[in-house]
Amino acid sequence: MAELAQSASLEQIENVRVKVLGRGGELTELLRSMREVPAQERPAIGQLANQVKRDIEERIEVLKNELRRRALGESLARAPLDVTLPGVQFPRGHIHPLTQITERLLDIWAAMGFEVIPTPDIEDDFHNFGALNFPSDHPARDMQDTFFLGDGLLLRTHTSNGQIRVMERRQPPLAVVCPGACYRRDELSVRYSPMFSQIEGFAVDEFGKITMAHLKGALTEFLRAFFGPTSQVRFRASFFPFTEPSAEADVRCIFCAGTGCRVCKHSGWIEILGAGMIHPNVLRAVGYDPQRYSGFAFGMGVERLALIKLGVDDMRLFFENDLRFLTQF
Ligand code: PHE
Repeated sequence: MAELAQSASLEQIENVRVKVLGRGGELTELLRSMREVPAQERPAIGQLANQVKRDIEERIEVLKNELRRRALGESLARAPLDVTLPGVQFPRGHIHPLTQITERLLDIWAAMGFEVIPTPDIEDDFHNFGALNFPSDHPARDMQDTFFLGDGLLLRTHTSNGQIRVMERRQPPLAVVCPGACYRRDELSVRYSPMFSQIEGFAVDEFGKITMAHLKGALTEFLRAFFGPTSQVRFRASFFPFTEPSAEADVRCIFCAGTGCRVCKHSGWIEILGAGMIHPNVLRAVGYDPQRYSGFAFGMGVERLALIKLGVDDMRLFFENDLRFLTQF
């Protein structure tokens, strides 16, 4: 106790502790030799030795705490702590805006009863073109548009391969959405990118059960859920080899409110999806009898939908990964 009283540092205290309570310490040795104490004195002496041990341990704790408190006080006096300074900021990551939008789009379709099934983006000619009723001389098959990988493989140019992949191995009734990346030999620009994302959707059931009216109804419902009940949408007749009849849907350009700008190519509308009734030749290609089954299909561009929804007027921003852009979402 006297030695402790004279200890002025944590180190000195530790030295005393080792000397008395350590493995070979004075008190440790003493406790170890209790056997030599006559039996009738042992309880009293044992108790005393343990009491001394506890007293010393307690004293050491008290002294250590006092020293620590004093050290803290001194360091604060030297360099005062300003608790109003901002803390260290750890940058927080988050999900990429395109992924957020994709998840939202799939949520809406899932809520309408569509099953989400991803399909491959490395494809063969049959699944990307042939089974989708593209004639063998169709310009989309041209080297200019498609990335060919050799060995009969290519990067899919749209998610419509998803229709073929799923129908090949499943039987109607089907209501499915297939999200994924697509590739075309386009220059990166305000509206185009050589890699982009689509969500394909289709529903097939007994012949006549699913009509063009269901297609229009499902798409309108979807667009209202995504853009809000007052958004303006229009359908136009169109052409795709794999649908008949075919349509495209546009939404009002939010950048110019319809007066015309570079994003909508001065038309006031932004095209967001293609759709139609699945062509009988497509059903035949997957082994369905077109007299027994019919259905609709659509394919929507995720970046286009994201541009409009988030008010971003240049598609390149989604791919440049500039944090000043990404952290806004
Ligand atoms: N695959 C078409 C495209 O990429 C979109 C589409 C899908 C059209 C399904 C009709 C039916 O433009």
